Amino acid sequence: MKRPNIVLMVASSVDGRIAIRPNITMWEEMNDHRTQTAGGSEIWKEVEDSITHAYKPQGDILGSNSLVKEGEPLRILPSFEGDSKYLYDDFLPDEAINRKNHKSWLIVVDGKGRLRSGYQGDESTGRYMVHLVSHGVQPEYLYFLQQNNIPYLISGEERIDLKLAMEKLKNKLGIDNLVTTAGGKLSGALLREGLIDEVNIVFKPLLYGGFKTPCLFDSPELKDNEEPSKLQLIKSTTYKNGHVWLRYKVASK
Ligand SMILES: NC(=O)c1ccc[n+]([C@@H]2O[C@H](COP(=O)([O-])OP(=O)(O)OC[C@H]3O[C@@H](n4cnc5c(N)ncnc54)[C@H](OP(=O)(O)O)[C@@H]3O)[C@@H](O)[C@H]2O)c1
Repeated sequence: MKRPNIVLMVASSVDGRIAIRPNITMWEEMNDHRTQTAGGSEIWKEVEDSITHAYKPQGDILGSNSLVKEGEPLRILPSFEGDSKYLYDDFLPDEAINRKNHKSWLIVVDGKGRLRSGYQGDESTGRYMVHLVSHGVQPEYLYFLQQNNIPYLISGEERIDLKLAMEKLKNKLGIDNLVTTAGGKLSGALLREGLIDEVNIVFKPLLYGGFKTPCLFDSPELKDNEEPSKLQLIKSTTYKNGHVWLRYKVASK
């Protein structure tokens, strides 16, 4: 299968929790003083710079729960009256995919069409949105993306077919290298599909606990005959203030 190389990059408490509590957006997480640690942002920047230098990633994938809370009432979109057939195909308008100042993609896995802000991207950084959507989303949603000139790739019936979506990112947008800063459910799903090639975890010197608090990999249980993913250590870095950055190659599943 031709797909991008995918490098996971995530910050975690020592007990593997990637958010301070369940169902919060990444902005709420970042602004909660309890998640902040001495030297934490400088270490995160070092990790980002190192991965950018090594791979020159053309985009970052994240899951919809990092941006929209589960159960949050969704913005009501104008109804779509026309023939919806043409909406259920990849939407890659030339003016959105060949912008002069384009530098990278912000790719959101949004199988249910929950991200409805109309955000196209950021001119100053040259980072623009691509939505990964499923065939299960309402035509109103696809029409809304088209009206806002937001590119999308469609795969899967009710959820994204992650393998197919990654293939499309490679074949249709020419993406060879991606980072993912996904939460646990998306990371878990990518891992189970064998789509993660490298794992970077920055452990913060904190313990969160919590029964429902998102973990590094919230994937379905291993079946009796299913092997865990095997890792090869590339590098470990310990910092005076108690952070540890572990970098692993995913060897096999
Ligand atoms: N510490 C960090 O570095 C870090 C990084 C990122 C996020 N976070 C935190 O993590 C939390 C969000 O994590 P989360 O695990 O709830 O959500 P998530 O990573 O956003 O995952 C949910 C998304 O993945 C999709 N998904 C899950 N399983 C799938 C599968 N088998 N096939 C296709 N698509 C699948 C879901 O699709 P459907 O909509 O179709 O279900 C949904 O779009 C937030 O609180 C955020 O702040 C922390």
